[in-house]
Amino acid sequence: MKIKAPRGTVDILPDEIENYKYVQRVAAETARVFGFSEISTPVFEHTELFERGVGDTTDVVQKEMYTFPDKSERSITLRPEGTASVARAYLEHSLYALPAPVKLFYDITCYRYEKPQTGRLREFHQFGAEVFGTAEPSIDAEIIAFVNSIFKNIGIKNLVLNINSIGCPSCRKEFNAALTEYLKSNYDSLCTTCHGRLERNPMRVLDCKNKSCKQIAEGAPAILDFICTDCRSHFEEVQKLLNAVGISYNIDPSIVRGLDYYTRTVFEFVSTEIGAQGTVCGGGRYDNLIELLGGGEIPGIGFAMGIERIILVMKAQGIVPKVSKRPDVYIASAGEGGAVLSLVCGLRDAGVYAECDHAGRSLKAQMKNAGRMGARFSMVIGGDEVVAGKANIKNMDDGTVAQTGLDILSIKNNLSQGTKEDE
Ligand code: HAM
Repeated sequence: MKIKAPRGTVDILPDEIENYKYVQRVAAETARVFGFSEISTPVFEHTELFERGVGDTTDVVQKEMYTFPDKSERSITLRPEGTASVARAYLEHSLYALPAPVKLFYDITCYRYEKPQTGRLREFHQFGAEVFGTAEPSIDAEIIAFVNSIFKNIGIKNLVLNINSIGCPSCRKEFNAALTEYLKSNYDSLCTTCHGRLERNPMRVLDCKNKSCKQIAEGAPAILDFICTDCRSHFEEVQKLLNAVGISYNIDPSIVRGLDYYTRTVFEFVSTEIGAQGTVCGGGRYDNLIELLGGGEIPGIGFAMGIERIILVMKAQGIVPKVSKRPDVYIASAGEGGAVLSLVCGLRDAGVYAECDHAGRSLKAQMKNAGRMGARFSMVIGGDEVVAGKANIKNMDDGTVAQTGLDILSIKNNLSQGTKEDE
């Protein structure tokens, strides 16, 4: 039996990978103008990081983590998300000593044992960013503006931004009491995992993926009705700033996000064009995460976008990144393989995409191959050309022929003559 890729994982083939590279490049370029620096953390971490950071009553930790003992019996987990790891690295390397805010972005794979469907994989790609060291509502608006710019720069339209505030631990007490009462009145319809959550962290019942729990969540009290004066004025200021920068949004009191670390502002960018898994980006503030991981009282905020879902939206909207695969020059050989290979290697060292034959083709077949590959220019090198140190170079788009010396500079000069843009 042939071995196949594990369920929920995909091989990203050469054409498709151009879509990933495009999104990653645009997002990283946008990160630069927003003042973010890149960080890379390990694919696996100590399990405790996610239990503490993401929260041990979340779906992610309770049901979805790839957790296993390593050869020294330490519990290891493949990262299900990036925030906890980046927060750990921020603490471990004392990045809090840098002037605040510290702005970091990452481009990672994540692992969640979820039921695969369109837009939901077990190995997926996230582009995300985190800001540490400021509790100001202006950074909430800036983070949302950053995401908005990434989508704008990719060329994506029609995403809906939903925002909410889930308050702070103090205003959450009253909410939790009301929520618990409501959930207890629906106890028998909740799944067994949610029976445990009801006691320990009732808010997590609201993002359970179980169908019956989802129905109950729809009628639950909304946290926005319970937030304290400080959290309310923070949220109002975020809205004012979003209005000021011209970003439209809906207030959606049902957003609670699926991870425990969130406080105050939470947000999601949603597409209606890609089916049930329409949330292309999620994020929010997490003012207690650093403390939870053993650090000081350092507020934070961030987001992560799912690259696979963004590509689904790009495809739905006909956004195709322009990538040229045309060789700049195809050098055909008439019995002068050594001279041709040496020229091709020299041109490549000089940044020119040069191709030649490696299949023993006849000269005619080599020229046919040059056309099939879409080469912009072609040359034929035989003994006479080598002796003369000169050859013809043909513009494959308009058929014009010029003469060139057989040195890299002369060939490069000829290649800089215009050819047609890619279709
Ligand atoms: P999240 O909402 O769990 O948040 O994931 C962020 C995004 O990753 C989602 O909106 C979605 O686009 C994508 N995503 C999540 N799970 C899958 C999956 N199984 N398959 C494909 N795509 C998926 C976080 O991960 C937080 N760390 C975001 C954050 C950063 N909050 C603050 N800072």
